[in-house]
Amino acid sequence: MANKRVLSGMRPSGKLHIGHFHGVLEKWLKLQKEHECFFFVADWHALTTEYNNPSAIQDNIREMVIDWLSVGIESERPAPEGFNQGSTIFLQSAIKEHAELHLLLSMITPLSWLERNPTYKEQVEEVKDKDLHTYGFLGYPVLQTADIVIYKANMVPVGIDQAPHLELSREITRRFNFLYGDTFPEPQTLLTETPKLLGTDGRKMSKSYNNAIFLSDPPNVIEKKILPMMTDPARQRRTDKGNPEVCPVYFLHKIYSSPETIKWVEEGCRTAGIGCIECKKSLIPSIVKKLEPFQKKRAELVKNPDIVNQVLNKGNEKAKNIAQKTMMEVRKALKIL
Ligand code: TRP
Ligand code: SF4
Repeated sequence: MANKRVLSGMRPSGKLHIGHFHGVLEKWLKLQKEHECFFFVADWHALTTEYNNPSAIQDNIREMVIDWLSVGIESERPAPEGFNQGSTIFLQSAIKEHAELHLLLSMITPLSWLERNPTYKEQVEEVKDKDLHTYGFLGYPVLQTADIVIYKANMVPVGIDQAPHLELSREITRRFNFLYGDTFPEPQTLLTETPKLLGTDGRKMSKSYNNAIFLSDPPNVIEKKILPMMTDPARQRRTDKGNPEVCPVYFLHKIYSSPETIKWVEEGCRTAGIGCIECKKSLIPSIVKKLEPFQKKRAELVKNPDIVNQVLNKGNEKAKNIAQKTMMEVRKALKIL
């Protein structure tokens, strides 16, 4: 397993929240220790939905890479096993080869595969504020396939929502290999678990719901978000007993608090021994403490913007090298030189 190549990307959505951390970044941190990793900003993918407002994408790219580096995604690392020199962090649009491979893969991808993609069908129906009936949006998984196979990645850590895309990637890969000879490994999906972490209003944590706690939120903002958080609706009054299992505050305690505090909340909630304000107040310092080292690192990176540029330049260069080599093979396989 040690020599397997890992690749994953995120669309630049700006500052990341704690849901991203516990869902995705924790997994990346673990993989980074064990494998050769490629992590990239999928800015072209962002354009599939944000094509009418491309200027926001630039700021979002920076903020997101700063968050990656703040939590410990590294581009430079000692190599104890000799195979690993740190993750390669790069920008999709800096590697134009992705676009060429996307074009070639589009020649062999049946429309029916794309049209039956559940993510596509769902989004086209549900998203009302943008017109997603575009060629680019339909081809989203084809570009994603190019992102993956151009690095001959073996494992792709993604959330469950991306599983259908990965399935398509494998189908496209198999078809390519069948038509032109074995060129790419079939990428395996590494499902990242979705943590039981809800937003402050009890819905899924998401920037667009305005219920997120960001990795970069300072202590006073965290307090302002936690205190009015939704709780078990059964606890109308202080004397009402509650069920912590249905309370988003408890989910956060389970992630951030000590075993003793978790026990205290669990018992106190069920017996009405503690009040919700008390419960929330005991949560705030645990979150603040966890985010403190990230925010220290973040402040450093904001002060030295060149670090982020260097990380990206270095990553882009390495990625480009590999992508160029792969494209030579691809052109040869297709007899296009
Ligand atoms: N579609 C992915 C998402 O929205 C981002 C992405 C683009 C990606 N290309 C990728 C993820 C390649 C893994 C591999 O989260
Ligand atoms: Fe939620 Fe804590 Fe109130 Fe129980 S006591 S409902 S866990 S906030």
